[in-house]
Amino acid sequence: MSDSTAPETATPTGAEIRSVTGSGTSTVTGSGTGSETRPARRALVTGASSGIGAATARRLRADGWDVVAAARRADRLAALAAETGCEVYAVDLTDDDAVAALANHLAATGGLDAVVNNAGGAFGLDRVEDSDVDSWRRMYEINVLGTLRVTKAVLPLLRKAGATKGVADVVNVTSTAAQNAYEGGAGYTGAKHAEHMLSQTLRWEIAGEPVRVIEVAPGAVATEEFSLVRFGGDAERAAAVYEGYTPLVADDIADTIAWAMSRPDHVNIDLVTVRPRAQAHNSKIVRTGV
Ligand SMILES: NC(=O)c1ccc[n+]([C@@H]2O[C@H](COP(=O)([O-])OP(=O)(O)OC[C@H]3O[C@@H](n4cnc5c(N)ncnc54)[C@H](OP(=O)(O)O)[C@@H]3O)[C@@H](O)[C@H]2O)c1
Repeated sequence: MSDSTAPETATPTGAEIRSVTGSGTSTVTGSGTGSETRPARRALVTGASSGIGAATARRLRADGWDVVAAARRADRLAALAAETGCEVYAVDLTDDDAVAALANHLAATGGLDAVVNNAGGAFGLDRVEDSDVDSWRRMYEINVLGTLRVTKAVLPLLRKAGATKGVADVVNVTSTAAQNAYEGGAGYTGAKHAEHMLSQTLRWEIAGEPVRVIEVAPGAVATEEFSLVRFGGDAERAAAVYEGYTPLVADDIADTIAWAMSRPDHVNIDLVTVRPRAQAHNSKIVRTGV
């Protein structure tokens, strides 16, 4: 696989590498809304250098959004910018100062109408007794604290946009791992449960404000890197995760995110769980021929 660069090899710079800002108005053709002209809106998509985040950046651009695509790998973001016309921002979301700088950049360049907290991942599939403490720490750092850090930093911008335009969105990409346990998964399921609780608690805390909190919980999605990262670059083990059934693809989740964000201002899609048809539960996948 050509996309096997492990996150550890990334080159976080904390600096904007390319800026393509959108126009004042655009034609919005989001599914279910029909076509209408309204002021362009701007979304920050984290983890946009691959998988679900990249698909979401593409989809939101196609729907008329201005998009700021964020991740550590500047080269991959640059390719996405060339393809979609999005703005990109290279950042390590485990770095407090870098996230603060990102929020300052957004404030100085037009504000923000939505954040898609998608950056995350699993590291390992080990029984509790065999778990690597550092892998757990890394999972909490990006899935939980990364989402917390970004959400805190951009909430003032979202409040401002919601107050003037009607609504703004926090979209958190959790997982079906946020809903149940599975053997070997405690580090990841624990982190995703915490991200789910962050989402639910924030929704309760800011109820009545013009900011929606939306959670999208995918089951198995065959992205090029998720399982490869989880299994430390073991391509054979990663490929086996998706054998014998038709998994979701990144576009399925991008479609769900874009749909939830395109609902009328008074509607909040609290939580959408999306699984492959063959997956009834985290640990029940009906496979054929394997
Ligand atoms: N694939 C699945 O089956 C599945 C199922 C349920 C939920 N999810 C969740 O969906 C989200 C996306 O998954 P995916 O399958 O698209 O995974 P992926 O292809 O591995 O993408 C993960 C993204 O997160 C970014 N990232 C990781 N650490 C970062 C950091 N410290 N700072 C900034 N960005 C960071 C990565 O970019 P850089 O390496 O360039 O920084 C990458 O763009 C994750 O939250 C994952 O837990 C995935």
